[in-house]
Amino acid sequence: MKYFVLTLLAASAAVATADDAQKAKLMEAGKAAYTNCMACHGADGAGVAIPPDKKMAPSLIGSKIVTGEPAALALAILKGIQKDPANAQILGIMAPLEAQLADDEKLAAVMTYVRGSFTNTAGVVTPEDAKKFREQFKDVKGQVTRAQLEEAGKKKDK
Ligand code: HEC
Repeated sequence: MKYFVLTLLAASAAVATADDAQKAKLMEAGKAAYTNCMACHGADGAGVAIPPDKKMAPSLIGSKIVTGEPAALALAILKGIQKDPANAQILGIMAPLEAQLADDEKLAAVMTYVRGSFTNTAGVVTPEDAKKFREQFKDVKGQVTRAQLEEAGKKKDK
């Protein structure tokens, strides 16, 4: 019985596509790069709680920015987000992280990790995509507004 299970596992591993391998690699590197986010968003992505009723940062679980069009997520990470004065429950600041994630592989990895963790099931972001987003937003100065993120998250007409 044990051998039977092992054989099945070996067979399914053999048919794993290159995409699966790339995803596994990005997820692993992304978990490491997520240390850049953990202090505020927490190991579980829910946002570090500041008792009794505040948080360092909003939850990334089910976030439209995290799981939607990846351009918006890239923009948020690269440039940071202007503090929303209306939300006094959130104590932290989403600073620009482009210097910490200057490597396209690393940016792609952390994006893939948050999109595919904490029950999120959005797809992989490749280093080529990451490079493209960095180029797309290179002239954006300062932290972005929610409206800018919304705009970046609109599906482009293809
Ligand atoms: C120093 C604290 C801090 C760090 C570090 C940090 N963030 Fe944030 N993040 C925030 C805060 C605060 C907000 C909310 C900003 C606002 O709207 O005022 C936020 C918002 C976001 C959002 C928008 C979520 C939504 O749906 O509104 C995303 C996505 C995000 N962060 C991703 C990341 C990722 C990925 C990293 C690491 C690469 C990271 N953040 C690092 C504090 C932080």
